[in-house]
Amino acid sequence: MCGIFASIGSREAAPLILAGLRQLEYRGYDSSGIATIKVDDQGIGQLTCLKAKGKLDNLILKYEKFGATGLCGIGHIRWATHGRPDERNAHPHLDGESQIAVVLNGIIENYQSLKEILEKQGVVFLSDTDAEVIPHQVAQELKCLQKEGQPASGHLLLIAVQRVVSCIKGNYALAVTWVKTPEALVVASKQAPLLIGLGAGEFLCASDTPALAGFTRNILPMNEGEIALLTPLGIELYDDKGDRQYRVPNLLSIDDQIADKRNFRHFMLKEIYEQAETTALWVDRYLNKTDSITDVVNQPLVSLKIKDTVFEGVERIQILACGTSRHASLIGGYLFEQLAGIPTSVFYASEFRYSPPPLLPNTLTIGVTQSGETADTLAALAMEQQRVQAKNDSTFMACQLGITNRPESSLGRRISNILNIEVGTEVGVAATKTFLGQLLAFYSLALSFAERRESLPHYELKALVDELKQLPHYLEKLIKEHDQLCASIACHFSDVKDVVFLGRGINYPIALEGALKLKEISYIHAAGYPAGEMKHGPIALLDASVPVISIAVPGIVFDKVISNAQEAKARDAKLIGVGPIGPETQLFDILLPIPKVSEWLSPLLTIIPMQLLSYHIAARRGLDVDQPRNLAKSVTVE
Ligand code: M6R
Repeated sequence: MCGIFASIGSREAAPLILAGLRQLEYRGYDSSGIATIKVDDQGIGQLTCLKAKGKLDNLILKYEKFGATGLCGIGHIRWATHGRPDERNAHPHLDGESQIAVVLNGIIENYQSLKEILEKQGVVFLSDTDAEVIPHQVAQELKCLQKEGQPASGHLLLIAVQRVVSCIKGNYALAVTWVKTPEALVVASKQAPLLIGLGAGEFLCASDTPALAGFTRNILPMNEGEIALLTPLGIELYDDKGDRQYRVPNLLSIDDQIADKRNFRHFMLKEIYEQAETTALWVDRYLNKTDSITDVVNQPLVSLKIKDTVFEGVERIQILACGTSRHASLIGGYLFEQLAGIPTSVFYASEFRYSPPPLLPNTLTIGVTQSGETADTLAALAMEQQRVQAKNDSTFMACQLGITNRPESSLGRRISNILNIEVGTEVGVAATKTFLGQLLAFYSLALSFAERRESLPHYELKALVDELKQLPHYLEKLIKEHDQLCASIACHFSDVKDVVFLGRGINYPIALEGALKLKEISYIHAAGYPAGEMKHGPIALLDASVPVISIAVPGIVFDKVISNAQEAKARDAKLIGVGPIGPETQLFDILLPIPKVSEWLSPLLTIIPMQLLSYHIAARRGLDVDQPRNLAKSVTVE
C-alpha cells in the first residue's frame, strides 16, 4: 500500500527510481511522484519534483518532458488513504520553501493535531494528506538546529527526522531529502516495510525486495523503529533510542525474474495458467513418491520443511488472515477439523486484534498472507504473541506459523516458522495462484497432523495423497477447457448487477472466493453464501436478473446443494453449475464441468472456473484486470 523507492550514489537517481517504482506499482496506482536533488555549477542544491495522477506511465511522460536530474532522489507510488487520488495529494510532499521532500507509506494517526499546531504557526498546507505534516515539521526542526549554529549536513537532517518521528503516532516508512544536503538521504520505518539495498557505488531503499532485485542482492531490512542516514559512502543505522546498529546485510534469495506476461493478455490469466505447474512442483517437493506399502508406512506422506515443534502438543488451531488468504484459511480450518480432528477457528485478522477470544492453552496460531506484509495480519499476530508472553506459562504456545509466498517479507522476519508456498511472483492484484498455493500448504499441514495423530486410517490418507498427485494433470486440462468455456459465457454477464455464489461444506469458502474475485476485477456486486442459508433471507434477492453460481460436487452435501439450486431455479434465477457431468447437474442452465474427485480435494478444482469466469467477465468489460481500481496487492495500512 504505497511504495517508496530512494537512491543515492554515483548514478542519476531518476531512472533508477522509475525502474524501482515500476516493480512497486502493484502497491498502488492512484498517483506517483519523484523528487531529485542536483548540485548546480555554484555547488548549490536544486530540487525538482514531478507528480502525476494515475499510473506510473503518466509520471514517466512528465519525466521525459521535463526531466529530473541529480544523484540523490526519492520516489513514491500511492494508494490513497487521506485525500483523493489526485495530483495535489501525490507524493513527494514539500515544505513551504520547497527545500525538503518527503515520501511516506503508512498512516500518521495524529496528523490532525500536528497540522493544527503547524497551521497556527502560519504553515500553509497544499494537500489533504497526513504525510504533508512531515516536511513542514522537518523544516521547523532544521531551522531550530541551524539557529543553534549547526551547519547543514546529513547528520543534521538525521537529527531533525529523529525528532519528528518521535512525535508521530502510527505506522510508516518514509524517505526524506533536503536540498542543502544532496549527499544525504534519511529513511525511517515503523511497522511498515523498508529495505536498504547496497548496490555498486550506490545505496537504494525500497518498500519491497523485487524493486531492489534489479540493482543488488545485498539487502538490509530495517527493523522496527529504525532510522538510517544514507550517503554515497555508506549507511548509518540507528534504533529508536538513537543507538547505532551494526548488521550484516542478507543475500537476496528470491528469484529476481522480471515479471513477464509472456503471450498472455493479462498477468492474471498467466497466473491462473501457472497453477498446474506450481501444483506439480508442490507434488514433487512434498508428497511421498513411493508406492511400496512398506516405504509409505516408514516415510511420512508429506514432508514439510518446518520444525516438529509446530506439531507438538497442539490441541487447537487459530488462523488469522484477510481477504483471499482468509478464504484459503477457511478451507484449512475445515481440513484441520474434519481430517485431523483439531478444533480450529478462523478469524479476520482486522477483527481479531480488537476482539480476540479468551486465550486457550496449546493453541497453534497460524498467520496467512501471500505478501507477508498485510498490516492487519501482522498486527494481529504480534498482539497474540504479546498476550501469550504475558501469560508466562509454557502451556500457552509461543510458537506461531506463517504461510506466505514471500519468506523474505515482514512476516518472514518476525516469525521463525514459515511455510513458503513457493508459487513465484504474482503480479495480478487479484490473488489466484497464491490462493491455490495456500490451499496446498493447508493440505500438507492437515495431512501431516492427521498422519501424526492417526485421526484417519493410514490407507485413507494415502489414497488422498495419491489423488493429490493427479492434481497437476487435472488442472492443466481444466484450465484450458474452462478458459474457452468461460470466455464464451462471459457475454451473459454484460448487464448483470448482482451475482450470487453458493457452496456448502468444504466448497463454501470457494463460493466466497468466487464472489470476491468477481467484485474485485469486474466491479459487479457479488455475494457468496452457504447454499443452505439462502432460504433464510438471501433468496429474496433472486429473480431472472440475478445469476446464481452453484458449486455442486459429489460428497456429503451434494443432494442438499442440488435441492438449494432447485429452489433458486424456481425463482427464475439463471443457474450456472460447477460440478461433474451427470443426471444431477442437468438442472443447470450452464454447467462448468469438473472431473469427479474426492470431495476433500474438490476445492482445488472448483476454484478454477471461479477465477476464469471473473477474469473473462472483467476482460470483456474492458477493465484493468491486473490493477483493479482502489486496490493494491499489499495492504500495509490497518
Ligand atoms: O497479502 P495478503 O494475502 O495478506 O492479502 C490479503 C488481502 O488483502 C488479499 O487477499 C486481497 O483480498 C486480494 N486482493 C485478493 O485477491
